[in-house]
Amino acid sequence: MDFDSVIDKRHSVRAFKNKKASWKLVLDAIDAANQGPFADNINPLKFLIIEEQSTIDKVSELSGQLWINESSILVIVCSDDTHLEHLHGQRGKRYSRQQSGAAINTFILKLTDLGLSSCWVGAFTDDLIKQHLKIPGHIEIEAIIPIGYEKTKSNKRRKRPLENTLNWESWGSTKRPSLFNEDAPDPDLIES
Ligand SMILES: Cc1cc2nc3c(=O)[nH]c(=O)nc-3n(C[C@H](O)[C@H](O)[C@H](O)COP(=O)(O)O)c2cc1C
Repeated sequence: MDFDSVIDKRHSVRAFKNKKASWKLVLDAIDAANQGPFADNINPLKFLIIEEQSTIDKVSELSGQLWINESSILVIVCSDDTHLEHLHGQRGKRYSRQQSGAAINTFILKLTDLGLSSCWVGAFTDDLIKQHLKIPGHIEIEAIIPIGYEKTKSNKRRKRPLENTLNWESWGSTKRPSLFNEDAPDPDLIES
């Protein structure tokens, strides 16, 4: 799929067909997520893959999002802040959240590219999930990603128009100043 189509097609799916997603495809998507940028080029992510239905059911119950039990694979995206915090203090923790989010986005886009559907789940009680899955206390759960095949095609959510997300040159200035005359010929291209 070309890049724009992947971006266009990706949307959160919360109802899945009774068809198992291949763990090999999920590994391809994890591999893609691992190719992204990481502060100091240190990748502290761990992907906990869950295929056992009883465990999927339990995570769905503990997170209070029962629809999760329709997915056939769950990926719990975790990160270990220890190293970045040691190197960069509080900013290291910020780096951790940022690079995890970036990796999660790559992950779900690659899943879309591979024909799979998913949803980024961030609302859960960390301690309950950690305890059940034996995740150590110092590890952060960044997201839970239920994966499967979409049951019924849903429409893409409306997004903010581009112009509502832009400021130019200084905060609060929503119109692009005419600093440059774009209609004038590029002097480098004018033959003397
Ligand atoms: C940080 C984050 C946390 C989210 N947590 C949840 C969640 O707990 N449960 C859920 O159903 N969707 C969750 N979502 C998905 C959003 O609801 C969804 O991305 C948003 O409604 C836009 O829809 P779209 O993904 O189809 O574009 C989360 C998304 C993000 C980025």
